[in-house]
Amino acid sequence: MYTLDNPKYRAAREKAKALVETMTLEEKVIQLTQFMVTENTYNPEHVEEDGEMLAGRCGFLLAATGAELVNNYQKIAVEYTPKNIPIISGCDVIHGCCTTMPIPLAQSCTFEPDVVRECSAVAGKEAKMQGVHWTYAPMVDVARDARWGRNAEGYGEDPYLSSKMAEAAVHGFQDDGGIMACMKHYAAYGACEGGRDYYGCDLSDQTLFNTYLPPFKAGIDAGVATVMSSFNDINGVPCSGSRKMLREILRGKLGFDGFVISDYDSVLELINHGFAENEKDAVLKGYGAGVDVLMLGNLYNRYLPKLVAEGKIKEEQIDASCERVIAAKYMLGLMDDPFTDTSCLDGAFLTEEYREVARNAARRSFVLLENDGILPLVPSEWAGRKIGLTGPAADEGDTVLGCWASLKNPEKTVKIKEALERAYKDSKIVYAKGVSFRDDRPNADEAIDALKECDVIIAAMAEPEWESGEATSKTSIELARDQLDYLDRLFNLGKPVVLLICAGRPLIMADLKERAAALLYIWDPGTECGNAVCDVLTGDYNPSGRTAISFPRAAGQCPIYYNDKQTGRPAVGKKIFESKYRDCAIGPLYPFGYGKSYTTFDHTDGAISAKSIAQDGELTVSCKVKNTGERAGEDVVQLYVRDLVGSITRPVKELKGFKKIYLEPGEETEVSFTIKASDLAFWNADMKFVTEPGRFKCWIAHDSSDNSMEFDFEVTE
Ligand code: BGC
Repeated sequence: MYTLDNPKYRAAREKAKALVETMTLEEKVIQLTQFMVTENTYNPEHVEEDGEMLAGRCGFLLAATGAELVNNYQKIAVEYTPKNIPIISGCDVIHGCCTTMPIPLAQSCTFEPDVVRECSAVAGKEAKMQGVHWTYAPMVDVARDARWGRNAEGYGEDPYLSSKMAEAAVHGFQDDGGIMACMKHYAAYGACEGGRDYYGCDLSDQTLFNTYLPPFKAGIDAGVATVMSSFNDINGVPCSGSRKMLREILRGKLGFDGFVISDYDSVLELINHGFAENEKDAVLKGYGAGVDVLMLGNLYNRYLPKLVAEGKIKEEQIDASCERVIAAKYMLGLMDDPFTDTSCLDGAFLTEEYREVARNAARRSFVLLENDGILPLVPSEWAGRKIGLTGPAADEGDTVLGCWASLKNPEKTVKIKEALERAYKDSKIVYAKGVSFRDDRPNADEAIDALKECDVIIAAMAEPEWESGEATSKTSIELARDQLDYLDRLFNLGKPVVLLICAGRPLIMADLKERAAALLYIWDPGTECGNAVCDVLTGDYNPSGRTAISFPRAAGQCPIYYNDKQTGRPAVGKKIFESKYRDCAIGPLYPFGYGKSYTTFDHTDGAISAKSIAQDGELTVSCKVKNTGERAGEDVVQLYVRDLVGSITRPVKELKGFKKIYLEPGEETEVSFTIKASDLAFWNADMKFVTEPGRFKCWIAHDSSDNSMEFDFEVTE
């Protein structure tokens, strides 16, 4: 825990402070600088000269991986820097390191923080063995717009779910994995207008605090070490130059005690924003606002000493930044032992245990959107029959790893085809690729011809990994035209088509939904892709994922999210003059929290313990949950709340709790949620965080669109 109420962190800060007192200004500024390890410097033979150049003049390295390489730099850092201070090596270990986990958006669809924690822990452990001390994850940007490609990297549209996942990831990376986490991108980076990456937004303080900051707060409370300041501006002020965001809010209101790093060039880009005159002014504004460490380059080295000499930056600020940085080095144990142990690395990556974590996370993250009963395809029932397999993701080991698979090993991916051939060894698997997103131009006619005799066709379609993640905003969020055309031909064969969609965002599924016999959204599942897919297809695992983000019917609906406002003219379908579209239904195709199972769950006997609670009170809502089908499975029971009248208009629903429970066929259990009056607090018209007295509704629900079990209560003065 990198918080001042943790005695260990306080002690680290004390030691760091003592060291800082012995340092010159130049030495201190070096600690706030990070250099990139380039292609050339990857060569260990060059390390001596490049290392001397780099390590003597920076406190951090970016993208240095490989224990031996980092150790070489480390050796130089501790020998050449005047105070023998080791470097921290930082890297984007976003969803796995050598073993690739499902993308974070998929991890969030598990509705299981423990799964996120496990994935982050494995990522941390592997990264640490690679000499990485610090990851730029988790990304906790609430994202409500499928056009924005970076949805893939975060936990979806909901502040509550994202908060739970943020907390879990911080514990996973730091407490279990042994590296530092960096929460990003602070803040409201996902609120970019039009879903356009790097763009800004005009945002009320209420929306900032009620929607975008809760996951950051949760990560800070979990003890996150570092925070990254974002590229975007809010209300005209770039976050990487915003005193309000970095000082008043992050340190003041959210209580962050670690250090802030800029995003890649985000301080330099203050010039492009039209917020700074030149490099020196950018440093004055960025560092002055509270960006302790510059992600890349020499700007701090070059200008901070001058700005101190001119009295524009106080040396005490630099002392404080430096103290935070060196404290982190103490916390990581680097000050005592800067080197990564290389004696036991053989066979330490991509182990069976890590693969099992990846497989479990992947199958739990898949969302079964449609199923007319064709799934599961139980192998014994399909013995001797023909199963067709087609599509660009069917025999693919790379794209299925997703947009930010750090030290990926595509050759170690379990592909769908090989896993399917194993799982259905008594069936005849007919494979034909049919369509591709690469240049290999498979023959579609031949594929259709080969598949037409099959009893079922599994079509694994994909948005390639380079079309999600950073700088991948899109106005059309459908599958590529040639994949859609090919699917059309497949559907026309009249055979049941089980559609698997591998993607980093919710794509438009409106037409496909009507024609597929089953639709399983597998996101970008990672190293264990094939095994996880087969676990679900065979029925060995009953799908339990739920959408962590709404699926729009059309891109024109974006941004779309369940916790929106009712408006003065709600769309109830009675009048023309309602808040809706003329050419498209108002709601999403699949709402937040949605997902099917191979069994069914009934919620009955809803009960509420009190109709009225005081400001310090609490109540319980409960119901019975029964597995009414024939297979064991997991239900995600969700609690939503609505504050009916507020000093500002309130969301139509807000997730306030969820529980994933396993039930055998016919088994019934009781599920209950406690609602404290304080859980209903929000930043109100006066920017006070209060629970306003008044009437509320709440629902125990299958998903965010389910109103069937509703309760009323009130909170008194
Ligand atoms: C991204 C960050 C990332 C950084 C370092 C930036 O372009 O916005 O998310 O951590 O690069 O790779």
